[in-house]
Amino acid sequence: MTAAVRAEGVEFAFTPGEPVLCGAALEVAAGEVVAVRGRSGSGKSTFLLCLAGILAPQAGRIEIAGRDLTVLDDDGRSAVRRTSLGFVFQFGELVAELDLLGNVALPLELLGVRRSRAARHAGALLDELGLGPLARRRPGEVSGGQAQRAAVARALVHRPAVVLADEPTGSLDEENAATVLDALVGLAVRRSAALVLVTHDDRVAERASRSVTLVDGAVTDAWSAR
Ligand SMILES: Nc1ncnc2c1ncn2[C@@H]1O[C@H](COP(=O)(O)OP(=O)(O)OP(=O)(O)O)[C@@H](O)[C@H]1O
Ligand SMILES: [Mg+2]
Repeated sequence: MTAAVRAEGVEFAFTPGEPVLCGAALEVAAGEVVAVRGRSGSGKSTFLLCLAGILAPQAGRIEIAGRDLTVLDDDGRSAVRRTSLGFVFQFGELVAELDLLGNVALPLELLGVRRSRAARHAGALLDELGLGPLARRRPGEVSGGQAQRAAVARALVHRPAVVLADEPTGSLDEENAATVLDALVGLAVRRSAALVLVTHDDRVAERASRSVTLVDGAVTDAWSAR
């Protein structure tokens, strides 16, 4: 079976001679939740941006849902992002001018789904995450935790094969972090998405099927090198 994410020998440097990733590798199956850990500056966000096809590694292979990003041009990578990837960041980065429903419907509309149908799917997902009554509010009119749950809905509404999350609960208090994490992990597992979750938080990592750690630009198994 094809892994949802398969990264091999990924090398990346922002500045020549100062490598951030040196041979990073990771495989994630559909329905699997992998926590990526490592100290600040170890390259976690950089690795995630490579997996997203936003940064282009200088060497290595990155396959998302069976498509090798490293041989695609910008348009090809954008197409993979639209169809096969969902993102959640530390700050939801929802579109301030759109209400929650509009934000969650957006990935479907970008795929050409008719507006009414996109709104129906988005509304059902907001209901599933307990946000139905807030669907017509803008991000600035809901709490941080509610906005972050809407960001989770937006990341998964188009049923991507892979969801990439960078400190998705980093800006929230404990209670809200738990609610957002429940929404993210629950939805990813129910929809058989592969979830790659960058986190500093032990409680977040405990929800993962597996943890890996970035050390010296490479991915190691387990917790020992934290
Ligand atoms: N746009 C950039 N230009 C140049 N160097 C960068 C850039 N972004 C990150 N770096 C450097 O790359 C290294 C890895 O950064 P990265 O943001 O991937 O770390 P991280 O593991 O996500 O850290 P944190 O836990 O603090 O979020 C760091 O040394 C950082 O200073
Ligand atoms: Mg980071």
